[in-house]
Amino acid sequence: MSPVSEKNKKINGNLNKFYNYSFPKMTVLVTLLDKAGKPNIITLAWHSAVSIKPPMYGISIDPRRYSHDGIIKTSEFVVNFCQMDILDQVHYCGRHSGRKFDKFVETGLTPATAQKVKVPLIAEAYSHLECKLVDQQLYGDHTWLVGEIVAVTCDEVFDEDVLRDNVDPVLYLGNNEYTSFNKVRKKF
Ligand SMILES: Cc1cc2nc3c(=O)[nH]c(=O)nc-3n(C[C@H](O)[C@H](O)[C@H](O)COP(=O)(O)O)c2cc1C
Repeated sequence: MSPVSEKNKKINGNLNKFYNYSFPKMTVLVTLLDKAGKPNIITLAWHSAVSIKPPMYGISIDPRRYSHDGIIKTSEFVVNFCQMDILDQVHYCGRHSGRKFDKFVETGLTPATAQKVKVPLIAEAYSHLECKLVDQQLYGDHTWLVGEIVAVTCDEVFDEDVLRDNVDPVLYLGNNEYTSFNKVRKKF
């Protein structure tokens, strides 16, 4: 084994904040209907593709979030991918609850009709995965909710299904701090 160079010198990370050591992560706005059928928006950094055939996407939500039970009751959600131009709205939706606030009204984000689900898309986002809930499992303090993707909608910002490099998705760093491919960094 080669000796560890100065550059690769290791120190202990903080296990309580292990997730920050996996960041930056693309941060999404997930739309859903609450138990009364009213649209809500939740900001999520914990999400992933799960399967290609059938196409499936997973999101990780703390059961205490208002959005959690709405998704389980209605069995639908949409994953909306956002750029830095709506960073303030992304942060707002991650620090306010649909229990008290109508986040579409408060942020001014525009609901748009989806192709295959009743949940609205967010018009200002650049791509949207429309999902029907197919499975849920509690792992520790978060529920992993898996949806089958029934439609993909997007702005004309993809070349052969690859994102153009003038698009600037929101990346979360942790501790209320964000960055982007264009290195526009902002701390709330
Ligand atoms: C950048 C960011 C990322 C977040 N990621 C998650 C996440 O992956 N899972 C989760 O349960 N909450 C996450 N949250 C917290 C929720 O977005 C927040 O509690 C929100 O207010 C819940 O809204 P609701 O009560 O309307 O469901 C995140 C918040 C921020 C600001």
